Amino acid sequence: MSKTDRYALLYKQAESLVGGETDSVSTMANIAALIQDTFHFWWTGFYRVQSGELLLGPFQGPVACMHIGFGKGVCGTAWKERRTVVVPDVEQFPGHIACSSESRSEIVVPVVQHDRVVAVLDIDSRELGTFDDVDAQWLEKIVTLLPPLQCEEREIYLAAGCFWGAEKYLKLIEGVTFTEVGFANGNTADPTYKEVYTDQTGYAEAVHLRYNPAVVSLRFLLEMYFKAIDPTSLNKQGEDEGTRYRTGIYYTDVADRAVICDVMAAEAKKYVLPLQVEVEPLRNFYSADEYHQDYLDKNPSGYCHLPVALFELAKKAKDTK
Ligand code: SME
Repeated sequence: MSKTDRYALLYKQAESLVGGETDSVSTMANIAALIQDTFHFWWTGFYRVQSGELLLGPFQGPVACMHIGFGKGVCGTAWKERRTVVVPDVEQFPGHIACSSESRSEIVVPVVQHDRVVAVLDIDSRELGTFDDVDAQWLEKIVTLLPPLQCEEREIYLAAGCFWGAEKYLKLIEGVTFTEVGFANGNTADPTYKEVYTDQTGYAEAVHLRYNPAVVSLRFLLEMYFKAIDPTSLNKQGEDEGTRYRTGIYYTDVADRAVICDVMAAEAKKYVLPLQVEVEPLRNFYSADEYHQDYLDKNPSGYCHLPVALFELAKKAKDTK
């Protein structure tokens, strides 16, 4: 049987094996076993992105390194560069991490879900030059069968004018797991709503969001955010005016900046006027009083600067990438 025929069969088996499974670790374990059963490579397994590094996951073969850094080794390179890396001779790959001295060639395929690398599939061989484009193409297809990996929650802070409507809108988006309203990036300690209202504190009304990146990407959340603001309007959203109503995207993970800038650039093309949306690291955030949390759920006919149609849009929105 040719390599292509063996992969075609393996893919079919993997498909029926995975069908409907929702647990990513079990699925990774069986996919690794299936690849190993078919090809008898030296080592086949997964590393998952956990707390900013690659952490050893289900595998078949000898004991392996547990932790691999971003950009380190073949695995870390595939993660950083978001591409499959084929290494015909590991000794020729600068920075290769030799978990086993037996390994001579290697392939690492990133598992990309919702715009982020969430894991890598790593296969080692005791022969030189074992892997080529055929392996790359089939393995890339096989990893798409994995169910969403349970990644750590992520967070972002969004200022979109009055935080009552902004919170109601943003919390309806599938994948958003937590919201709270408060005051971001100002200059005084522990501000009250009244103080922020004077517009002298430098704070912006903002929504702190946590989300599950396996369900919704930051890119998608930001695209939805832009639908709810006038990004060319400085310090004014709807009828609300003042620096506290400015628009802003405040991040706590610098790795998010690239995606934010990407979305900003794409949105900027839609307008003649320049965007007025601030993009900054989060300097500080103070949660607002309970009175303001989920305000429109508690007061359905309360003031809202956003049109009802937007809430319908948010309810139906699905990140399908
Ligand atoms: N060689 C890999 C490390 C993982 S082991 O091969 C299982 C690398 O350089 O990333």
